Amino acid sequence: MSDSFVIKARVWRQDGPQSQGAFEEHEVTCVPEMSFLEMLDVLNERLVSEGKRAIAFEHDCREGICGSCGAMVNGQPHGPADRTTLCQLHMRSFKQGDVLTIEPWRAEAFPVIRDLVVDRSSFDRIIQAGGYISVRTGAAQDANQIPIGKIIADAAFDAATCIGCGACAAACPNASASLFTSAKLFHLNSVPQGEVERGQRTLAMVEQMDAEGFGHCTNHGECEAACPKGITINHIAAMNRDLIRATATGR
Ligand code: FES
Repeated sequence: MSDSFVIKARVWRQDGPQSQGAFEEHEVTCVPEMSFLEMLDVLNERLVSEGKRAIAFEHDCREGICGSCGAMVNGQPHGPADRTTLCQLHMRSFKQGDVLTIEPWRAEAFPVIRDLVVDRSSFDRIIQAGGYISVRTGAAQDANQIPIGKIIADAAFDAATCIGCGACAAACPNASASLFTSAKLFHLNSVPQGEVERGQRTLAMVEQMDAEGFGHCTNHGECEAACPKGITINHIAAMNRDLIRATATGR
């Protein structure tokens, strides 16, 4: 195993949604092979052994596919590595003496529950508003027999790689959820099975996004840079085109 090194973690601690939060500093001995979440695990084991409360943070798959994890590391969602979730970030990205400021997502629509855990149910409600296909499409074999051009199929799959982590809204100066909402819309709107409800779906999901308190997109592009799955802001342009059409025609 490689040589160990010590970093200073400045971690946001907040007991609950109504509590005052503050940074707490800890030195942690790391090895380059550790993931970022394993570094937090090591720190938590020490805190618990000292009789202190462990740092709350979310995780599930630890493979970059579930969208559970996420925190700001030195002001960058999921830390400094390109197209990498926090669980897939490794401590080899840092070196001896680095100071890592670790905070929860900062957005009004993502209230802090505890420490690094935020309430992202606003994303769930956007999906509930229209992120599904309710027309009859038949059984799986029927759906597989609908011819879809490769370019469209690939584009729909690319949009569907959004894991809903919330980094886009956390990175945006307006705390906009436009990248998330537009990716979810695109992967359904662009295939024949989703075409029937395209306008209705777009109106409903955008209306819910606004109702949740997310800001509007003003083309900063921070969301695209922060997205661990490489979702592009072209999807936001497609969402806005569909929104204008649906507002004007109801379809
Ligand atoms: S824990 Fe699943 S994406 Fe990070």
